[in-house]
Amino acid sequence: MRTTKFLAACLLTLSVFSCKQPDYNSKDAEIEKKVEALLSKMTLEEKIGQMNQISSSGNIEEMSELIKKGEIGSILNEVDPVRVNQLQRAAVEGSRLGIPVLIARDVIHGFKTIFPIPLGQAASFDPEIAREGARVAAVEASSVGVRWTFAPMIDISRDPRWGRIAESCGEDPYLTAVMGAAMVKGFQGDSLNDPTAIAACAKHFVGYGAAEGGRDYNSTFISERNLRNIYLPSFEAAEAAGAATFMTSFNDNDGVPSTGNKFILRDVLRGEWGFDGIVVTDWNSAREMINHGFAADDKDVAEKSVNAGVDMEMVSYTFVKQLPELVKEGKVKESVIDEAVRNILRVKFRLGLFDNPYVDENKPSVFYNKEHLAAAKRAVEESTILLKNENAVLPLGSNVRTIAVVGPMANAPHDQMGTWVFDGDKTHTQTPLAALKAMYGDKVNIIYEPGLTFSRDTNAEGIRKAAAAAARADVILAFLGEEAILSGEAHSLADISLKGAQTQLLEALENTGKPVVSIIMAGRPLTIAHEVELSDAVLYSFHPGTMGGPALADLIFGKAVPSGKTPVTFVQHVGQVPLYYAHHNTGRPARKGVKPLAELPLEAGQTSEGSNSSYMDYSVELLFPFGYGLSYTTFSYGTPKLSATELAKNDVLKVSFELANTGKYEATEIVQLYVQDKVASVTRPVKELKRFTRVTLKPGEKRMVEFELPIADLAFWNIDMKKVVEPGEFALWVAADSESGEPLTFTVK
Ligand code: NOJ
Repeated sequence: MRTTKFLAACLLTLSVFSCKQPDYNSKDAEIEKKVEALLSKMTLEEKIGQMNQISSSGNIEEMSELIKKGEIGSILNEVDPVRVNQLQRAAVEGSRLGIPVLIARDVIHGFKTIFPIPLGQAASFDPEIAREGARVAAVEASSVGVRWTFAPMIDISRDPRWGRIAESCGEDPYLTAVMGAAMVKGFQGDSLNDPTAIAACAKHFVGYGAAEGGRDYNSTFISERNLRNIYLPSFEAAEAAGAATFMTSFNDNDGVPSTGNKFILRDVLRGEWGFDGIVVTDWNSAREMINHGFAADDKDVAEKSVNAGVDMEMVSYTFVKQLPELVKEGKVKESVIDEAVRNILRVKFRLGLFDNPYVDENKPSVFYNKEHLAAAKRAVEESTILLKNENAVLPLGSNVRTIAVVGPMANAPHDQMGTWVFDGDKTHTQTPLAALKAMYGDKVNIIYEPGLTFSRDTNAEGIRKAAAAAARADVILAFLGEEAILSGEAHSLADISLKGAQTQLLEALENTGKPVVSIIMAGRPLTIAHEVELSDAVLYSFHPGTMGGPALADLIFGKAVPSGKTPVTFVQHVGQVPLYYAHHNTGRPARKGVKPLAELPLEAGQTSEGSNSSYMDYSVELLFPFGYGLSYTTFSYGTPKLSATELAKNDVLKVSFELANTGKYEATEIVQLYVQDKVASVTRPVKELKRFTRVTLKPGEKRMVEFELPIADLAFWNIDMKKVVEPGEFALWVAADSESGEPLTFTVK
């Protein structure tokens, strides 16, 4: 079962991973014996103690006392190796059974060396970038004793107002599945037993990204079919890749908070997927079931969470206080507690914590080492998207003598790291200004006049000064975007345009008549239609992290060539949200383009404008579609060939075509394969990404690119809620993005 699932995961991710079976996901017989032996010695109170996670109170003595009493299984937010060892000593030497505590921390896109936010990493369409980023994070975090992270976040995110879109891999289930599985592999390494491995946590299970209106923590109303077709696949892939833990989400879906949702926790995760690791709640999400109106009090909270399949509660302390009585009353069976404790002990054994509980306090620091910085720089190079490049302004050529560096993000060491940075130190951040000076200062004169000093700044005098200074340059580099605080948890926005007076700054710069390159660092896809028009070129790097500066400098000067593609649709106007490529067709499909409202005749007849599912004042046209991004070179796509046009359900379709680099730069193209199931027992998306690959070609080079698509991958949850491939006609595109390419057709018998 495990092997089949692992092979499926390998297929899912093509040949990008070495498909060596990692050993952290197999039920090791030795470990199972140890778990049983230990469990048999535990009192009910000790068992329940394992199910309790606290956040560090800061007071080692106080926490040690609780640990010695057997009241704590895990602690989050301790990152000092000496303190971690003190706590561990209390557990191993001071508690009756010597069970080590599991130290956890949110290590989301780097511990010290900060990588691009996950949404940025997803723009690379390169699982190796995601794996490497997570590996570096694990090496750094484990060096202080952290052995559990709460990542990857693999919520499908189709609403850019939602602040947590920054932490996600964007709107697409397949891209998210591939990147999420790669992150799991990176965090956990080849074996959880390795001291540099940290347990991954697939979160937030499930549907959290569909929060109504993009408001954090809001309710979701996802049908079972949409859950299974859209929101669950990335989690299933993370499970198959060996994720040691899962976290429940804050939202209630269709009336049931995830922390009390037996269907997703027991039936799907344990029953259908065979997960045997830890399910932890989100921060206080157990007790928040009272706010939801799903539990009456703490006792009800503990009963509902544990019976639904939660193993460990994060910070809400209802288990320790309520479970003993609930067991006595028979409302929670001791066998249910035993199962939860087995899951927890199993992960602790897999992590090797019993054999090697302490962290080496004297190891030389691995923070920000050369390899880590190089990997972080690569990640930015691959994840930056070139959205526009009129008159080939980029890369800057030798004719450029003077550049003006402008904008609030040019030298914002804290903000370019983005959200969820607890441990990264801004004094290590390399900003674009610093990097341009250090790397290209001998080739060009650099005028720095920020204009605005932070993204919400509205200083008109600053704008005037910046425009005057910029007029003396050959090219203007405008570093715009969002401060880190404007995205992330509980940081949703109703208006996702550039904040402060950044647009006015750009207008003033455009008025100079000099070419303007906008470089945007943000936690989400912003509504930047006007700003794109004002710019000659646009690079979008999301929040790029520690090495944003050097990578962007090399991209600007052509030492590196952009290859990123949008992992999420860029809308023109926030009122178009949600707008995603894999939508269903309506009976009256939206037409493109709109007539200006001013042209609507007075007292126009009710049906005079036709009937289709557009807005009257905005077409459904996007600013940039999913999968979109330019390069300094050009690529030409040959007509794809299919290995067959009639296939059986167990066949593998081969799709091949010639890709040519027709420009002047060696560069990488992300080639995408989309499919549409034309008629089915339930309506299906107009397009779904099924494969992608990165192809690097020298100028003038051509290569045959081949995709293999098992027909089994066309299965979906149909009218009978069965996962099946339904026979019929399919359309297929091989394309540079989700809007281009000509369809081919094939039939499944
Ligand atoms: C709440 C967040 O939703 C979750 O993602 C995070 O891991 C926990 N807090 C722990 O900090």
